[in-house]
Amino acid sequence: MKILTICAAVFPLLFGGCALHPLGPLDKAPDHQAAQLKGYAPFAWGISTSSLQYENKAVSPENPEYYVRDWDLLVQQKKAPIVGNALYSWSDWNKDLTALKKIGVTHYRFSIEWARVEPSPGKYNEKAVLGYVRMCRKLREAGIEPVVTLWHFTFPAWLTDPKDSSKTNWLNPQARNHWNLYVSKMVKATAPYVNFYAPENEPNGQVLTAYIIGLWPPCHIFDFKGYKAATIASADMFRDAAARIKEVKHSAKVLSVEALPWWKPAPLDPGGLLYNTVMHSNFDHLDRVYDVCDIIGFNYYYSQMAGPFSLLSEGMKHGSNFTMMGWRIDPKGLGNQIRYVGKRYDKPMMITENGIATKNEQKRLSYLRDHIAQIRMAMDDGYDVKGYFVWSLADNYEWHYGYVPKFGLATMDPNTKARILKPAAYYYRDVIRTSNRLQQVSPNP
Ligand code: BGC
Repeated sequence: MKILTICAAVFPLLFGGCALHPLGPLDKAPDHQAAQLKGYAPFAWGISTSSLQYENKAVSPENPEYYVRDWDLLVQQKKAPIVGNALYSWSDWNKDLTALKKIGVTHYRFSIEWARVEPSPGKYNEKAVLGYVRMCRKLREAGIEPVVTLWHFTFPAWLTDPKDSSKTNWLNPQARNHWNLYVSKMVKATAPYVNFYAPENEPNGQVLTAYIIGLWPPCHIFDFKGYKAATIASADMFRDAAARIKEVKHSAKVLSVEALPWWKPAPLDPGGLLYNTVMHSNFDHLDRVYDVCDIIGFNYYYSQMAGPFSLLSEGMKHGSNFTMMGWRIDPKGLGNQIRYVGKRYDKPMMITENGIATKNEQKRLSYLRDHIAQIRMAMDDGYDVKGYFVWSLADNYEWHYGYVPKFGLATMDPNTKARILKPAAYYYRDVIRTSNRLQQVSPNP
């Protein structure tokens, strides 16, 4: 997801020249020296997906198990493209498993749809709970470590307040209590098979898109009060989830998943106002939760200049240095981010998403190779990177962009639902094989 749009550039500009930034000072986290931990194994070679982007509902609206997400309301209001059955990953999940086995990943990150397991407040769908437990069990039987995300952008629609949008989702007074019960329930059910939990996927990007950019529920524009409140609420709920996870299974690892583009200061940025704003967006949430994380996970896709022109023309650039989304391809940005995050938090790291929307397989292959090479270089410098996950298994629903961007290592055969591997999937398979054999990250197998 691209987290800033044209609108995001405008507000800070209005404040150009102000001494005080509306979001306050940055750098709240202590400055650490990066952990100089040696060692490769166990390195996680994974793929990431999410429930809404992959699963079909597989229940009709008359069925009491039917569920509605806040995103469904957005689609109904024609503010987002139709999701439909996505990749049928609820009824045909075995097709995903077959593809994962062919590629030979060691880890698989997927998310649980909160609304599916709790379609109305306090009423759980036990069949759906067991469906997710089955996925975890099947992955483990296949020798693949499940990495369970408990929230990937979407909320049950019953957390939307149609009368007062300031009480929607994170800020709904019922949310925290229900979240704690939901997390406990899902962790208890899956814990026999799961060692890694990510409470939230890119809460920093979601809060920005929901409260500043106005694209995601509750669709507020430049609502800095809401932004701050939702950042705090999502961080509190992350900390709650970490506590619930440790109560159930102390040995399980808690993982953050933040959206961390590599931002570069730009000349036309009075007082560093834009740079400060985007750095807030990167780190405000993580600063509040890093101490309860065993591993700092982050998603890296691109770098960008934090200047007005770059922000205004965002997503519009094309050519060999850009992806289908108009994102700048910058593998060195990943190396820089690993070093920055390593020093800032002094914890082991995982790249929980990295990938490219393209129809050109050579471009996808080079993108993966060059980013994996940066991980290797950072590890050679002593940074403790524990894993890398490609976004994504197959071409999927890409939020506001619908089904247009092609992020997949595979496509879906519409008749059989089989995942047909693209050339880059075989490249990734060979990277995994060679790296495991040599016990070091090997971008050129
Ligand atoms: C999100 C995914 C999304 C991907 C590519 C990340 O922001 O976690 O849901 O599909 O980026 O845009």
